[in-house]
Amino acid sequence: MRVTMIGSGYVGLVSGACFADFGHHVTCVDKDTGRIAALNRGEMPIFEPGLAELVDTNVRQGRLAFAGDAASVRDAEVVLIAVGTPSRRGDGHADLSFVYNAVREVAPLLPETAVVVTKSTVPVGTGDEIEHILRETRPGADLQVVSNPEFLREGAAIQDFKHPDRIVVGTDDERARAVLAELYRPLYLNAAPLVYVNRRTAELIKYASNAFLATKITFINEIADLCERVGADVQDVARGMGLDNRIGKKFLHAGPGFGGSCFPKDASALIKTAHDHGAQLRIVETVAAVNEQRKRAMARKVVAAVDGAIRGKTIAVLGLTFKPNTDDTRDSPAIPLITALQDMGGNVRCYDPAGMEQAKPQLPDVTYCQSAYEAAEGAVALVIVTEWEQFRALDLGRLKQVMAQPTIVDLRNVYRPDEMQRAKFRYVGIGAPGMAAVSEKSAIGER
Ligand code: UDX
Repeated sequence: MRVTMIGSGYVGLVSGACFADFGHHVTCVDKDTGRIAALNRGEMPIFEPGLAELVDTNVRQGRLAFAGDAASVRDAEVVLIAVGTPSRRGDGHADLSFVYNAVREVAPLLPETAVVVTKSTVPVGTGDEIEHILRETRPGADLQVVSNPEFLREGAAIQDFKHPDRIVVGTDDERARAVLAELYRPLYLNAAPLVYVNRRTAELIKYASNAFLATKITFINEIADLCERVGADVQDVARGMGLDNRIGKKFLHAGPGFGGSCFPKDASALIKTAHDHGAQLRIVETVAAVNEQRKRAMARKVVAAVDGAIRGKTIAVLGLTFKPNTDDTRDSPAIPLITALQDMGGNVRCYDPAGMEQAKPQLPDVTYCQSAYEAAEGAVALVIVTEWEQFRALDLGRLKQVMAQPTIVDLRNVYRPDEMQRAKFRYVGIGAPGMAAVSEKSAIGER
């Protein structure tokens, strides 16, 4: 099949490379000519395990190409839209200008029976608007508009693409369904369920899924706070809950709050959609508010761990990305945490294996280091914000030597309290017995 992907960002690039790997002929288009030139040199604009190799193989085998204009649309059977839908400044709505501009640009070029597929996360009704634009520009053509949301996780995107839990196809048109079935044929043969629904339903499935996962995380985060006060252990609570198949064990890992390019943005766009249609999503509204407060509140945990003494002291922060295996720091809990520590008079030294360049514009007054140990030099506390593999087996003896005092605040529960006790570290995790007492002591100190 001849496929054009409009937008060579995260979703476009990963999906485009995977479709090429299935055997389709894919052109990934982007207006950013610097990005296209880099891709043609084999340089990836994003950090994603396995992507460079996948792109390289498919380019060499002649199935994947990059272009700065949309000319390839002229002979494409399928045109996928994978441009950004950032939060609109001011009201939290998804900004759809990139989507509509892309559609207006390709509309005059499309073959008579092309299928236009929206991969970008777009609010309910966007497909109808796209159809309207196409009808106006190309009256008489049999163009179909399909919603096919992606569910890729950064850091595991290729695996997710090739082994999806489901493929959602939103259209009522039989021909368009057949075209999408052909596009996903290898996965279909692997028995990945294709869920055929109407277009608006497909658009909503994406938002509802992300909002539900964000709710699950926020739920366990609040249970973690309760655990600290009542002497329970959130990791055991999560395990005990997760063994119930109706609940499931995934996304019950308590931490500093969810971040990333999707959950925060999609939650606020969903809330706006609900308001616009006179419906209320009080649970999602609460999840968004609780999560925002939580990120900055993590700084209080750090202050508590050093008995309120942070002014003029050095704090080491390990991890700036919103999760491991990405260089993405968008809405990362590390950002408000570090800002709060600085507001309280602390000096921050940090290290992240991939996210330091991205963090610099948001965090200009931080000392960026080349390793966890360099960051720890002179620190009164070491805070683990992102669970990168390399932070899971730190040399505790070496840390102790370079730190001003041996305190670790582990916001991802990477370590066990007993091993830290044996290594003679003061250790503060999330949702373990006894943590609340420390927090309250610090709250008194702050006053
Ligand atoms: C998410 C969805 O998983 C994906 O399906 C969608 O297409 C895009 O948004 P992503 O943003 O890449 O993917 O990351 P994900 O792995 O879902 O994590 C999101 C955030 O939640 C991270 O900050 C992570 O640390 C946090 N998280 C996740 C937790 O705090 N606890 C958990 O148990 C799981």
